[in-house]
Amino acid sequence: MAVKLDPIAEFREDHRKVRDGILEITDALKEKDVQKAREILGQLNVLVGPHFRYEEEHLYPALRTFLGEYVDQLIKEHNNVIDTAKVCASLLSRDSLTDKESEEAAKAAMQLLIHVSNCDGLAILSERLSSKEMDRLAESYAEARTKGVPLLEWADTIRKK
Ligand SMILES: [Fe+2]
Repeated sequence: MAVKLDPIAEFREDHRKVRDGILEITDALKEKDVQKAREILGQLNVLVGPHFRYEEEHLYPALRTFLGEYVDQLIKEHNNVIDTAKVCASLLSRDSLTDKESEEAAKAAMQLLIHVSNCDGLAILSERLSSKEMDRLAESYAEARTKGVPLLEWADTIRKK
C-alpha cells in the first residue's frame, strides 16, 4: 500500500512550488524569455489542476465548518485565478511579447502569486479538522493527483458540470 500523504504538508508544498514557478515566470519575462515563461506556466497548469480540484471537491466543503459562506468566496476567487491563468497562457503562447504585453503577463503572474499567499492561510484552519476528516482529505488529494487533470482542462470540462 502506498504511504498515506499528509494533506497539509502536501498542500503547502504545492504552494511553494507554485510560488517559485510564478517568480521564475516573472524573471523570465524580465529577460524576454517567453518560451521559458510558457514552459513554466505549462508545468504549473499540470501541478495546480489536481490541487484546485481537491480544494473545491473536498477541502472547501470540509472547511465550511469554520468558514461558512466564505467558502463561496473562495470558489469565486478560483474563477478569477482561472481567468487570469487563461490570460497569462494566451499572452505566453506568442513568439515574442511587446513591452506592454510583457507587463500584462507580469501583472497576471502577480495576481496568481497573491492567490497562493491567500490560499496558504487555509492550512492553519485545516489543522483543526478531525483525524478522520484528515484521512479522507489525504485520500481525495491522492485521488485528484492520480486523475491528474491540468487546471485549464479541468476548468473547461469537469468543473463546468
Ligand atoms: Fe491552494
